[in-house]
Amino acid sequence: MFDYSISTNCLAQKIILVTGAGDGIGRTAALTYAKLGATVILLGKTVKKLEAVYDEIIAQGSAEPAIIPLDLKGATKQHYLDMSATIVEQFGKLDGALLNASMLGDLTPFTQINEKTWDDVMQVNSTSQFLMTQALIPALLKSEIASLVFTTSTVGHQGRAFWGAYSVSKFAIEGMMQVIADEYENSSLRTNAINPGATRTKMRASAYPAEDQEKLATTEQIMPLYVYLMAEDSKSVNGKVLNAQ
Ligand SMILES: NC(=O)c1ccc[n+]([C@@H]2O[C@H](COP(=O)([O-])OP(=O)(O)OC[C@H]3O[C@@H](n4cnc5c(N)ncnc54)[C@H](OP(=O)(O)O)[C@@H]3O)[C@@H](O)[C@H]2O)c1
Repeated sequence: MFDYSISTNCLAQKIILVTGAGDGIGRTAALTYAKLGATVILLGKTVKKLEAVYDEIIAQGSAEPAIIPLDLKGATKQHYLDMSATIVEQFGKLDGALLNASMLGDLTPFTQINEKTWDDVMQVNSTSQFLMTQALIPALLKSEIASLVFTTSTVGHQGRAFWGAYSVSKFAIEGMMQVIADEYENSSLRTNAINPGATRTKMRASAYPAEDQEKLATTEQIMPLYVYLMAEDSKSVNGKVLNAQ
């Protein structure tokens, strides 16, 4: 596991957006950030799941979160601009964004990739991240020290048979991360990407249905890197892909 010792309240006063906050890694990241003092903005597709995370955050005694129900498949540039404007209006700034939501699509031979599935995976995993980031950068630059964190995968830097659109979409994420990191190198904004590694979630189970889930890292176990990249200890880290495991 990535080695970082988490100190209590290390995210106090921070406003952090988490996408895909209703389930899997995003859910645990949102709960963890809130526990460490952040006010979290929960973005996701399924409102019920976001409400359940909201309730858990309140129950653990953390600051009241905000909820943004949004399906990245259909969202337009205007949705992201409105979202960013609302964040600035409500909080004055954005200190961190964990762009975590994504979809797997189908694992299939390259010649069998369905065009609609390709478009959906590219839209959710890459294009929406581009539009959202474009809209969020002005809000992030209002923070004295901001962190933009993308989510990649091992197949985002080493192509693998049958991982088709998902793999290609994660290559795009790593490229986007490097472009932004280079453009904002001497600014208050740092940009990196996390490769979570094999983690016990629904997405992993649908990619490897025969695997023993109990042998995989839990979402809680991979949190040290997720916290490190939002905490000020990582302020000089920029343009990197870091492995959570
Ligand atoms: N788990 C692994 O082993 C692993 C390995 C490498 C990389 N990753 C990456 O880690 C990230 C988190 O994955 P996970 O394993 O936690 O997956 P997960 O359990 O399937 O969770 C994915 C999250 O993304 C949200 N989401 C999916 N499509 C969306 C859309 N169109 N609009 C808005 N939200 C959407 C889901 O919301 P709903 O629940 O409402 O659908 C869910 O909250 C992903 O970027 C994934 O590629 C995971």
